[in-house]
Amino acid sequence: NEDIYVLGIETSCDETAASVVKNGTEIISNVVASQIESHKRFGGVVPEIASRHHVEQITLVIEEALQQAEMTPTGLSAVAVTEGPGLVGALLIGVNAAKAFAFAHQLPIIGVHHIAGHIYANRLAQEMEFPLLALVISGGHTELVYMKEHGHFEVIGETRDDAAGEAYDKVARTLNLPYPGGPHIDRLAHESTNPVDFPRVWLEEGSYDFSFSGLKSSVLNYMHNAAQRGEQVKPEDVAAGFQNSVVEVVTAKTLKAADQYKVRQVIAAGGVAANKGLRASLEKEFTEKGIPFFIPPLRLCTDNAAMIAAAGTVMFEKGIRGNMAMNGRPGMEM
Ligand code: KG4
Ligand code: ZN
Repeated sequence: NEDIYVLGIETSCDETAASVVKNGTEIISNVVASQIESHKRFGGVVPEIASRHHVEQITLVIEEALQQAEMTPTGLSAVAVTEGPGLVGALLIGVNAAKAFAFAHQLPIIGVHHIAGHIYANRLAQEMEFPLLALVISGGHTELVYMKEHGHFEVIGETRDDAAGEAYDKVARTLNLPYPGGPHIDRLAHESTNPVDFPRVWLEEGSYDFSFSGLKSSVLNYMHNAAQRGEQVKPEDVAAGFQNSVVEVVTAKTLKAADQYKVRQVIAAGGVAANKGLRASLEKEFTEKGIPFFIPPLRLCTDNAAMIAAAGTVMFEKGIRGNMAMNGRPGMEM
């Protein structure tokens, strides 16, 4: 039984990333070039700017990942790349780099779903136990995914409008906080003594779907009304009120799904999984329930290529292979 070394490549949004992972569990190298500084002044990711940065960075980042791993391409078993979902121009840079690399070095290529990557970040930190429930919560996604076994994904709930991170970023913008706003709201929320009472959006009885745009509008209305009355709002109270609503709904739905699907493990992934309020709430509830709950370390929660290599390794072991016709798929389904 030979060891499997997979080169992962991720360019779906605003991080250019490459990584080498051994046997789907062990990070050998993990390089992430962030573009956040270039997008900051626009208050969000500008797709055209993202693509240009990816083009400039991708070759260097791949070389750096191999160098840090002290490996040459001949030591690799396969190349795994984010095929979708994401920004089409950004995805194409990674997919084409992966195709060129795989062709030049005669390696198999594997197309990975970005969310499968976020989920498999957990396998780089601890063993995954099935059946498993994953809460994927980021700037682009809010999903509850049920996994019966490795490589099997069933989306049981998803956002019907904004992703949680997107709502965080938009609310942060109205509070004049820098992009990305999630961490700033998180920090402010902990300074509040009198959180504003914003609505909880539950949707229909029994639904595991989410909706955050109504909550976002409530925050905007609140700010607007206060301004019209000439009242000073306390940003920490708005931040805390907004965060309380998100945390309460996300925690309750995740708990209910874990119960209904009788899972043996719950994991969280994606940038918003770094949220201190959400982490504390989920940890408390699942400890009380006695269901093992994990969140990977922060650097694996946000976009990276080690998670893509980890998910790609499972596909590789299942015999799944892509080919040179691979394309970026912005709306790729799980
Ligand atoms: O997973 P990620 O790096 O990128 C994707 O969207 O795929 O997630 C980024 C998102 C941003 O919306 C950011 O504001 C949010 O994660 N975020 C947070 C926190 N840290 C990052 N949201 C709430 N609380 C945080 N501490
Ligand atoms: Zn992501």
